Amino acid sequence: MNEPLQLAIVGVGNWGRNLVRHFAHARRARLKYLCDRDGRTLATQLENHPGVQGVRDFQTVLDDPDVQAVVIATDAPTHFELATAALKSGRHVFVEKPLALNSDDAARLAALSREVNRKLMVGHLLEYHPAVEAIGAMIRGGELGDVYYLYSQRINLGVVRANENAWWSLAPHDVAVVCRLFDGAPVSVSAQGQCYLQAGIEDVVFASLKFADGRLAHLHVSWLDPHKIRKLTIVGTRKMVTFDDMSANEKVRLYDKGAEISQAMRDFAEVVNLRVGDIVIPRIPGGEPLALECRHFIDAVLDDKPVRTDGESGLRVVRVLEAGQRSLREGGAAVVVQR
Ligand SMILES: NC(=O)c1ccc[n+]([C@@H]2O[C@H](COP(=O)([O-])OP(=O)(O)OC[C@H]3O[C@@H](n4cnc5c(N)ncnc54)[C@H](O)[C@@H]3O)[C@@H](O)[C@H]2O)c1
Repeated sequence: MNEPLQLAIVGVGNWGRNLVRHFAHARRARLKYLCDRDGRTLATQLENHPGVQGVRDFQTVLDDPDVQAVVIATDAPTHFELATAALKSGRHVFVEKPLALNSDDAARLAALSREVNRKLMVGHLLEYHPAVEAIGAMIRGGELGDVYYLYSQRINLGVVRANENAWWSLAPHDVAVVCRLFDGAPVSVSAQGQCYLQAGIEDVVFASLKFADGRLAHLHVSWLDPHKIRKLTIVGTRKMVTFDDMSANEKVRLYDKGAEISQAMRDFAEVVNLRVGDIVIPRIPGGEPLALECRHFIDAVLDDKPVRTDGESGLRVVRVLEAGQRSLREGGAAVVVQR
């Protein structure tokens, strides 16, 4: 299909405007509408994009038969309702993370997209990050050996939200990456957190995700921290790797470090051999993750290709988030992730 994809973006606030920037300049798309119920936010975006129509009511977008796809970047509690309406009206949908706020709603959306045969893509941005792809290839190719565990930090001062906690706001990215790199979902989550700034809304969360084969992923998310860190460390039997998203040119470092138990022949005691080799900074092919993500959606629709972060993978992430949320309420108890 050579005609550009006609699309609308609903929710053009802090994050949505980044999507506007990319979709407005995408080669194979035509941005027809920007939609936001806040008139001032909408007007600011329209100034930068003359030729795009602005509307405050989402239904107006759905009433236009020219619109083939809808990008939803509204607040998380509205995702389910807006994505359902768009799919039911026969539109392809890109929805920001999290797909929904509970696994029943996420499962309904995944099922609906299959039923109506329309693409559903969740904005798990890091799954389109070239560094994450490179690390995935290292794991699949056996470069790290068997993976023992990983840990990540996504911390900063702000953005403090009032309608979701730090777990739902920040952890979807890390959970999505863990499920992608570990090729599956954890069996259980134990999460501890604290609400300091607003009652009932955790500002900081420490969560451990356990996998059936013993692999472990520990996630630390916070919007109440002096450091701006977005870092992932993965420890394998052969090598270890880090992904530092705040680094401009050295995002990935591969450490030829490891520890092995060997039988010492002298006294038959077990000895731990530590190996400390080179650190390699691999060249990661370029590409801005958000540009790659937006292009993936357009290509998936126009070329009828599978979506990497589809409804099922969005559901998988929501199930882990939900288990983490229950664990938070139960003081850190291990909560089984729904299958
Ligand atoms: N992928 C990422 O890295 C990333 C980063 C930040 C935020 N996000 C996600 O983007 C989404 C939006 O976050 P934000 O920080 O931009 O929030 P925001 O509050 O700045 O913007 C949301 C906008 O949606 C509008 N809106 C809400 N409901 C609407 C409706 N029914 N109809 C029309 N407009 C509506 C609001 O008026 C507002 O302008 C959230 O899901 C968030 O999780 C993703």
